Amino acid sequence: MITTDQTIHTFLEFFRERGHELTPGGSLIPEPGDPVLFTTSGMHPLTPYLLGRPHPMGRRLTNLQRCLRTTDLDEIGDSTHLTVFEMLGSWSLGDYEGSQSLRWGYELLRDGFGIPPDRLHVTVFGGDDQVGPDHESWQTWDELGVPVEPTTHENWWSNGPIGPCGPDSEVFIWTGHETPRGTPTSDDRWVEVWNHVMMQYLRHPDGSLEPLHRPGIDTGLGLERLVRILQNRRSVFEIDLFRPWLSTLPLLWGPLDEPSLRLLSDHLRSSIVVLGDRVSPSPTHRGHILRRLIRRTLTTLWRDDPSRTLSDLPIDLIEHTLDHFRQATDPGRIRGTLLNEEHKFDLLLQRGRKVLSRNRFTAPLGEGDYLYLHDTHGLPRELVDYLNTEDS
Ligand code: SER
Repeated sequence: MITTDQTIHTFLEFFRERGHELTPGGSLIPEPGDPVLFTTSGMHPLTPYLLGRPHPMGRRLTNLQRCLRTTDLDEIGDSTHLTVFEMLGSWSLGDYEGSQSLRWGYELLRDGFGIPPDRLHVTVFGGDDQVGPDHESWQTWDELGVPVEPTTHENWWSNGPIGPCGPDSEVFIWTGHETPRGTPTSDDRWVEVWNHVMMQYLRHPDGSLEPLHRPGIDTGLGLERLVRILQNRRSVFEIDLFRPWLSTLPLLWGPLDEPSLRLLSDHLRSSIVVLGDRVSPSPTHRGHILRRLIRRTLTTLWRDDPSRTLSDLPIDLIEHTLDHFRQATDPGRIRGTLLNEEHKFDLLLQRGRKVLSRNRFTAPLGEGDYLYLHDTHGLPRELVDYLNTEDS
């Protein structure tokens, strides 16, 4: 069975053999001046180069980039989403064209990863009132014999309301037990793994599109999703990368139901990576996302047993995560920050319990109560609701 590390190696070597330079996989923290909190995709650090700036390493690039999408936080626990995930990417900065990227993508999935071609389906941009259908991609897939479904909104990629964008073509793999059926939009057993974006336009604030003078190709393949399929697992949490988490946590904290085990593994691992990229917990900005991850970990832990503590967490798990993400941070420092956050949160909860036990807060709480508890006592709504469930 192919491991996560072998999957990474196979992908990067495939593109290196085809003239792509390996750029260093960047941290989760975007460049200064970037308004986005965390790097959200492999192309994110490459935005200026996709817009035309020459890249010092050339016009064909590949890498592995760690990413964090805060929009996905509430999806954690299903079979495909993770807070911190990794994307394998390939780029043509004004070099080869979209059809070449799709052909290489097909070759790598079929020959490099051994995916039977009849388990593939793709979607392409079917056109809207501004841009016509992506005939080139459609024809390429037809020639390769892969079934195509055209869509409009799901096959237009942009990184926000303005900036580089263009039609994309998404590759899906069938994960059902029976013969593949339906299409990606009608059957969710088709799981999206690889997106090829034909970066052809710059969107202006008034919504208009300006063709880029040097169109490029940006592809991103979700590492854990692909490995889940290659290792024939029901969810991303069952791949080799998560094995140490899934085997260790129940030993530390007793039997955990599946949603809690997934959430704890995801949030603890993500907190370690974010700490490893030198973010500290705080009330705002990146530190706030980190604090939310740690506090959600703690409320999940304490819901069934308030004596559980992060001081049980073995340093090996922290080291395993830092090693995987190639982070040179001291594991002891990370452990110390986690314990400090646990202590602060415990004090906040104790204070919250005291405030909430006053008569005024026994009836069902209204908006005014939440506002007062937040503004006067620093108790966010989430926490108040959590404390209320403790009593019931
Ligand atoms: N930018 C595209 C994505 O994030 C492909 O890299 O899906």
